[in-house]
Amino acid sequence: MAPDTHRNPSREDIFDPAHYARARLPADAPGALSLPPWCYSSDAYFRREVERVFMKSWNLIGRVEKIANPGDYEAFEIAGAHAVVTRGRDGQIRAFANTCRHRGARLLQGTGNCRAIKCPYHGWVYGLDGVLNGVADMEQAKDFRKEDFPLVAIRLEIWAGFMFVNFDNDAAPLSATLGDLPDKLSGYRFEDMRPTFRHEYDAWCNWKIVIENFLEYYHTPTLHLRSVYRQPVGFLGQNAGKNMVVLPIEERAGDYVSFFMPHEGTRALLTGDTGFPPMAHLEGKIAKGTYSGSIFPNSMFSCHNDCMWFLEIYPLAHNRTRIVQVGCFPESTTKRADFAEVSKRYYKRWDTVMGEDAAMYPRMQQGLENPLAEAGPVCHVEDKIHDIRRRLLDRVIGNR
Ligand code: FES
Ligand SMILES: [Fe+2]
Repeated sequence: MAPDTHRNPSREDIFDPAHYARARLPADAPGALSLPPWCYSSDAYFRREVERVFMKSWNLIGRVEKIANPGDYEAFEIAGAHAVVTRGRDGQIRAFANTCRHRGARLLQGTGNCRAIKCPYHGWVYGLDGVLNGVADMEQAKDFRKEDFPLVAIRLEIWAGFMFVNFDNDAAPLSATLGDLPDKLSGYRFEDMRPTFRHEYDAWCNWKIVIENFLEYYHTPTLHLRSVYRQPVGFLGQNAGKNMVVLPIEERAGDYVSFFMPHEGTRALLTGDTGFPPMAHLEGKIAKGTYSGSIFPNSMFSCHNDCMWFLEIYPLAHNRTRIVQVGCFPESTTKRADFAEVSKRYYKRWDTVMGEDAAMYPRMQQGLENPLAEAGPVCHVEDKIHDIRRRLLDRVIGNR
């Protein structure tokens, strides 16, 4: 089957479902294609994703430990929506729009600890619970009542220490997105883990390039030839001769994709390095391999027998993405006398492999912004990415 030509459609035309017929075919169907390049390079397409995906989904914003103490806050952005997560004096975690109810000034930047949130423009003061407590010179404003102007609250739910926000007040609860994933992963006891590694990257690329990169190992023998591809026999691709083994997408009842790679030991280290002993409480399948996947739309996780790491992926523009990689260990491991020394080996692995991936992102974006680019075929081990593409098309383009 000859490839469709996807060059330079008009702006309205990019939402015509006809363009996506082949991207919607199952990954193993004859003629299946990747998404058209403009899905990565067009601002209009990105804005449609923001409206139909990011404003309506449960977006991962990281672990509760980043706001461990009363008064802690962290500002974040998801596709132009600026928000802040706080821990109140009462210990409660809440999320708010990061914009003053007076004339809209951005209230907080970065991370920190505060007794109250004070607007830098006219000095209105909000509690960490969002209540407007202090205003100056508003006595003559007719009908003004402070209680009518709290910070705009954003829905926030927590699963096993992971915080998610949803900008849609009508969206189903987080449990509908997670489905049976908490049951599958409960043996890792994430609630007893602590993040000790954090590395933030601002990448010049579309957010889907990042998600797709982490859901396929087709690139491992090329891009990671000098790092993780050298792991012992059993690593995918290395043992598989000409045909890479497909790790099937697991049956699921939820909005995620997951797959399991059976092997001995941990894959969270570079070849030759030794790490921490496996978690003693792991039982069954998860004691022998790596569990990986992505919770729709903006996260990726990789669970090992000694640790886990995940990505928070914040789309900022069609060609700009903030990636936060976080590594977590069981709290008992972090208390070992050798933790500081041995954990460096894990951090080296995470920095090395992520660095190799991150170097590729702008090259991918450049290639896809080329007006001569066209959609390509789907390799059999790209089934997870294709699954995500089809889920996205259901929302962004509609259900045919
Ligand atoms: S904009 Fe915040 S007090 Fe005026
Ligand atoms: Fe990679």
